Amino acid sequence: MARRFVSVNNAPLRTAVVGYGYWGPNLVRNVMERPELEFAGLCDRDAGRAAAFSARYHGQPVFSDLDDVLADDAIDALVVATPPRTHHAIVRAALEAGKHVLVEKPLATTSEDAIDLLETAARHDRTLMPGHTFVYSPPVNKIKELISAGTLGEVYFVTSSRMNLGKYQADGVICDLAPHDLSILLYWLDEPVVEVAATGRSVFQAGVPETAFITLTFASGANANIQVSWLAPRKVREMTIVGSSRMVQYDDTAADEAVRVFDRGMEFAPPKTFGEYQLTYRSGDMVVPRLEAAEPLSLELADFARAIRTGAEPRSNAQLGLEIVLAMEAAEESLRRNGEPIAVENVPLRVAA
Ligand SMILES: NC(=O)c1ccc[n+]([C@@H]2O[C@H](COP(=O)([O-])OP(=O)(O)OC[C@H]3O[C@@H](n4cnc5c(N)ncnc54)[C@H](O)[C@@H]3O)[C@@H](O)[C@H]2O)c1
Repeated sequence: MARRFVSVNNAPLRTAVVGYGYWGPNLVRNVMERPELEFAGLCDRDAGRAAAFSARYHGQPVFSDLDDVLADDAIDALVVATPPRTHHAIVRAALEAGKHVLVEKPLATTSEDAIDLLETAARHDRTLMPGHTFVYSPPVNKIKELISAGTLGEVYFVTSSRMNLGKYQADGVICDLAPHDLSILLYWLDEPVVEVAATGRSVFQAGVPETAFITLTFASGANANIQVSWLAPRKVREMTIVGSSRMVQYDDTAADEAVRVFDRGMEFAPPKTFGEYQLTYRSGDMVVPRLEAAEPLSLELADFARAIRTGAEPRSNAQLGLEIVLAMEAAEESLRRNGEPIAVENVPLRVAA
C-alpha cells in the first residue's frame, strides 16, 4: 500500500550517513554517486573515523553528535552503518525526528526492537529499510528468476557456506553473517521459516560464537542449512539449491560463472509390485546464465529513494528485516539450548501504526 503521494519536488533527497567504520565508506561513496540522493554529511562519534572521512572528502559536512543531524531540517534521510546493538536507539530517534532511514543489517538485535521500529516508522509515515544488500545482487536475482519461473521445480533444500578468517565482533557470527543467508533464502523461497535449530562454537568468549551451523525448515517443508564462521582458512561464499527439475551452484567469490545451473537429479518411481521401485538418474547439461553487471549497494540506494518518493515498499523491506531477526533470534536461542529446534512465531503481515 502506497502511503505517500509521489513528491512533486524531484530534488535529490538530502542524505546523511551515520558510521564510518568498516562498511560506512562504501555507503558514503554510493550515496555520493546516486543521482536521486545528495550527500548531506557524515556523522561518527569517533574523532579518528571522522578525520579519516575528512581527509578523503575535504569540505564535506561532519557531525560528531547524532542529535545535530536529527535537528537539521534540511536532512531528509539517514543511512545508518553503526554496530547492530546500536541500531534500535539510533533508528528510533531518527524516525521520531521525521527522517527516512536505511539501516544496515540486521534491522535490530531482538524482534521486540525490530517490531518497535516497524511501529515507529508506521506512526511517523517514514520509510524504514534494512540494508539486505544481497536481494539486489545480480546472481541472487538470476536464481530468484529461475525459482519463480519454475525452472528448478520444487525446491527441496538449500545449503549455504559463508566462512572466512573474519573480523571478530561482539554481537557474534549469527548476527554478523547469517542475515545475508537468511535474506537470500527468504527472498528466494518467499515463505516463512517455521523452525530453526542451531549449534556452534564460542572458542574465545562464552556467548560470542565464531562459528554456527543453522538448520531451517520453511512452511512448504523445504530445508536449508547455513554454516557461518569467522574462523576458517579461506573465503567461502557458496550456496547450492536443489530442486526437482534443476540444481544450482552459486559461488559469490567466482570472477565469472557465479551461477551454474545443472540439469541433474534423481527420479524415484514408487514400487508397483512389492520391492520393485524404479530409480533413474538424470545427468544433462550445465548452463551458465549471463549476469547483469551492477553494484548491489547502488541498486539498494536507488530503491531506498524510490520508496521514499512513492511510499512503496522497497524490495529489502522492514517486514523482511523482522522475519530475519525472528529467525536469527530463534537460532541464538537454539544455540543456547544445545541445538533444540525452536518454533518461529508467525510474523504479523503488517504491523499496526
Ligand atoms: N551489507 C554488508 O555486506 C555489510 C558488511 C559489513 C558490515 N555491515 C553492517 O554495517 C554495520 C556497521 O558495521 P561495521 O563493520 O562498519 O562496524 P564498525 O564498528 O567498523 O563501524 C561502526 C562505526 O559507527 C560509529 N558509531 C557507533 N555508534 C555511533 C553513534 N551513536 N553515532 C555515530 N557514530 C557511531 C563508530 O564510531 C564506528 O566508526 C553493521 O550493521 C554491519 O552488520 C554490512
